[in-house]
Amino acid sequence: MHSQHRIILGNSQQMSELADGSVQLMVTSPPYPMIAMWDELFAKADPKIAELFQKLAANGEDETVRKIYTAMHDYLAKVWQETYRVLVDGGIACINIGDATRSINGRFQLYPNHSRITEVCEKIGFTTLPYILWKKPTTKPMYKGKGAFLGSGFLPPNAYVTLDCEFILLFRKGKLRKFPPKDALRYESAFTKKERDEWFSQIWSLKGTRQTATELERRTAAYPEEIAERLIRMFSVKGELVLDPFLGSGTTTKVAMLNERNSIGYETDQNLLPVITKKIDNCNAKTAEYVTIIKR
Ligand SMILES: C[S@@+](CC[C@H](N)C(=O)[O-])C[C@H]1O[C@@H](n2cnc3c(N)ncnc32)[C@H](O)[C@@H]1O
Repeated sequence: MHSQHRIILGNSQQMSELADGSVQLMVTSPPYPMIAMWDELFAKADPKIAELFQKLAANGEDETVRKIYTAMHDYLAKVWQETYRVLVDGGIACINIGDATRSINGRFQLYPNHSRITEVCEKIGFTTLPYILWKKPTTKPMYKGKGAFLGSGFLPPNAYVTLDCEFILLFRKGKLRKFPPKDALRYESAFTKKERDEWFSQIWSLKGTRQTATELERRTAAYPEEIAERLIRMFSVKGELVLDPFLGSGTTTKVAMLNERNSIGYETDQNLLPVITKKIDNCNAKTAEYVTIIKR
C-alpha cells in the first residue's frame, strides 16, 4: 500500500488544506510554555507575548509572568481548536507535553502545562481520556531549580521533586468510531498481546532521543520514534490520515510512512526543511511513498 505525505511549511493555527472531519488521528508535541528554550519562538509568533516579555523585563511582576503563561497557552489553543475541526467524529488527539519549572525574580514554581491543555481541550469540546506518563531516565534531583542538590539538599523542607515524566495527553472528539464488521484494514492493523499489555499501561519508560550535534536539530526537541509509532498504531488504522500540527524534525511523518498511514505535518520554521527531508528521505529510500512539500 502506498501512502501520501504532505509537509506544509506554514502555521497550523489555520489548516486550510484540511476539510472538516478529514483526519483520523493527531499526534504531536508542541513548544512547551514556560520552558526557556521556547520563549523566543512564542515571542516571535505572537506580538502580545513579545510585549509581555518586554513588560516583565521592566516591571518584574508575578502578574506579568502569569499573563505570559496564559498567552502561550492561548497561542497553542488555536491549534487545538483547529485540530478539533479537522478530526473525524471519534478521532483521537495525542499531545506530548512536559510541565515546566522555572525561577523568575527568585521565585521558583511549577507551570503545570498538562492541566492547562486539558482544561482548554475540554472547553473546546474534546473528551479527556486516561493519559500516559512518559518516564525518562532520571536526571539529577533539583534544589532551588538549579538541577542538583546543593549543600542542604538532604535537609527538609526546601528541596523539590524532579520532573522526570512528561505527559502524553489523550482526547477524543465525539463518540467512539464505528467500523463495518471484520473491516480488513482494521484487522490488519491489530497489535499483539505483548504490545497491547505494554502500550496500554500508564507508564512508558523510554529514553529520549539522542540530541544530535547541530543547533538546528537540537532546537526541534524531537520525540523518540517509538512514541510516535505506539500512538499511531494504537489509535489509527492502516491507510488513515495522521496529522502533526507541530512537525519539528518530521518524526511523525517518518513513522506514518513506516506504518502505512498517510500524513500531513505543519511546521512554521522553514529552516527545518532540510532536517525533515533528510529524515524522511532516508526512510523513503525503502518505502517509496508519495511526498508533497508545500510552502505557504
Ligand atoms: C517540540 S517541536 C516538535 C518536535 C517533533 N515532535 C519532532 O519529533 O521533531 C515543536 C515545533 O513546532 C513548531 N511550531 C510552533 N508553532 C507552530 C505553528 N503555529 N504551526 C506550525 N508549527 C509550529 C516549532 O517551530 C517547532 O519546530
